[in-house]
Amino acid sequence: MKKPLPTSWLQGIPPYVPGTSKDTIMKRYGIAQPIKLASNENPLGPSPKALEAIEGIKGAAHIYPDPDAADLRKAAAAFFRRPPQQIIVGNGSDEIIDLICRAFIEPGDEVIIPGCTFSYYNIAALACGARVITSRMNDHLIDIAAIAENLSEKTKIVFVANPNNPTGTCLGKQEILDLTAMVPANTLLVIDEAYAAFVRRDDFLSATNLIEDHANVVTMHTLSKSHGLAGLRVGFGIASEPVTETLYRIKPPFNVNILALKAGEAALYDSEFLQQTLENTWEGLDYIYKEMDRLGIDYVPSQTNFVLIRIGTDAPRVYEELLKRGIITRSMASYGLGEYIRVSVGLPNENRAFIAHLEEVL
Ligand SMILES: Cc1ncc(COP(=O)(O)O)c(C=O)c1O
Repeated sequence: MKKPLPTSWLQGIPPYVPGTSKDTIMKRYGIAQPIKLASNENPLGPSPKALEAIEGIKGAAHIYPDPDAADLRKAAAAFFRRPPQQIIVGNGSDEIIDLICRAFIEPGDEVIIPGCTFSYYNIAALACGARVITSRMNDHLIDIAAIAENLSEKTKIVFVANPNNPTGTCLGKQEILDLTAMVPANTLLVIDEAYAAFVRRDDFLSATNLIEDHANVVTMHTLSKSHGLAGLRVGFGIASEPVTETLYRIKPPFNVNILALKAGEAALYDSEFLQQTLENTWEGLDYIYKEMDRLGIDYVPSQTNFVLIRIGTDAPRVYEELLKRGIITRSMASYGLGEYIRVSVGLPNENRAFIAHLEEVL
């Protein structure tokens, strides 16, 4: 029977595997209050200033949002120290990834993606007919030499998450400079800084500083993690004007809703909330490291708000047992890290519950 067929390259796209929701665990195991440490969300909730802003604007829900997101871009310009015309706002940074792929990839173009990283780069690139080249990792680090080996005349985009998800590792200033120098001017170098706010190592360089001299560098940012707005969806692309103008040409006109616009703007000015978030994250990370050392469990020191933990061959059982007890971590099987789980930093009592249950399960 005849039927409409999607593009031939759509067939091989792996599905995105999200973190298990609290709702699923409540229903499956009858647990009243599961603890979700699976999606690197902000355990403090949304910024209070963002909540206030939503209250003030919700009566305008029948009016289309500002297609230029002018006020939010102004706030982002102050926060990221780049001019508003170098900033584009997306419905989460997922949408920025999509816009980049749709605007730049022709079927058959090559896109280089490190072997263990955020899975949506692969999905978005494949959906545009790209040939994805997977560059090898160096242990849990993104290997820039491996990226260099894979560059070719056909390379249209290189995606690098810095810090990287799910490994939590981060490239230092010199590596970012080397990477920028080695990627040719006609290849887009996309540096995703979703977790940059959490970085503690002092040789971190945000690639937003390189945009002035490198017209092919795009950085991406999100308010989903450090600013607690994952459910509202606010992400940014920051790049030279020719790149942002190109992305603007295909952006859905009203892509960011009015609640997200107002909340995003307020959250960017809420430096107190950001500070509390960082303190909670760093204390939580140090606590988890200390407990892992006590339990003799390997982990990858993290520059983000989550930790990759090596449980061993028992990881699938441990992950399931934790779920049954209402502790939702992330299985790393779909990332090819079958012996690991990834845990987001929660509130102090949530971190303690995770450790207590993990110890029992082990
Ligand atoms: C590295 C990285 N980039 C982008 C995203 C997507 O973020 P957003 O919620 O802004 O779409 C995530 C979400 O987990 C991520 O880990």
